[in-house]
Amino acid sequence: MRLLWHADSRPPSDLDEDALADLYRFGSGPILRANFVSTLDGAGTGPDRRSGSINTPADTHVFGLQRRLADAVLVGAGTARAEGYRRATRVDGDPPTMVVVSNSGRLPDGIRDKRDGDGPAVLITCAAASGERLDQARVALGEDNVWTIGETAVDLTASVARLRAQGIRRILAEGGPTLFSGLLGADVVDEVALTLVPSLVGGDHTRITNGPGLGVALTGRHLCEADGALLGLWAVDRS
Ligand SMILES: NC(=O)c1ccc[n+]([C@@H]2O[C@H](COP(=O)([O-])OP(=O)(O)OC[C@H]3O[C@@H](n4cnc5c(N)ncnc54)[C@H](OP(=O)(O)O)[C@@H]3O)[C@@H](O)[C@H]2O)c1
Repeated sequence: MRLLWHADSRPPSDLDEDALADLYRFGSGPILRANFVSTLDGAGTGPDRRSGSINTPADTHVFGLQRRLADAVLVGAGTARAEGYRRATRVDGDPPTMVVVSNSGRLPDGIRDKRDGDGPAVLITCAAASGERLDQARVALGEDNVWTIGETAVDLTASVARLRAQGIRRILAEGGPTLFSGLLGADVVDEVALTLVPSLVGGDHTRITNGPGLGVALTGRHLCEADGALLGLWAVDRS
């Protein structure tokens, strides 16, 4: 992978693993970073309606690297179901907590089981969710790991505040598009990492956002290249 451009005027260079980790390391303050992949024609999924069919080895590598750098992965229940999410597993150090957001309270199947080395999982839901589903989630995750935050819908601002209060400072939001739009609407996203893969899929696919109109300005941090894919990091501009 090559660094093409950096906001701090670092010269272009080949990146070893340490240099790559340095680029993607979270800053010292609390940070919520969203991470996505998109084709050149703006699709967030491939023919199988999953992002796994459009990503590249370099994107997969940076996806895994950011997980290792994060305290928690935040994901919508839709993505967890579509992509067959499991809890994060230890690679080196403690695995991030897998935090699933669901209005319905339906815990995705893959999150129920805990394998050796798996990290904890939390379900964030709302008071309107079915009691039966929440009981099932409490059995699977433990009483303390099912959070009801919001009445008719999950309150994302309060959810992020609760994660922070639990000492979770580095949050990696892996989507999906509906959750990402909600997080942007709640103004809790600090950074966006995006890989543009060199492919076109046509058809009718989700973009990386799905929700009401937004006006979010971003400032570039860096841009890398690997096998024609462009991997960038942007900061949400709050100035
Ligand atoms: N290109 C990429 O990088 C990328 C990344 C992630 C996902 N994807 C793709 O995106 C597709 C899924 O899209 P999606 O928009 O349905 O994903 P999503 O946002 O993960 O899932 C939507 C579901 O998650 C829950 N949810 C989302 N936002 C919520 C909120 N603000 N409050 C409460 N619950 C919330 C709800 O679950 P309940 O129905 O249980 O209430 C909702 O139905 C999949 O095909 C996946 O492969 C692509």
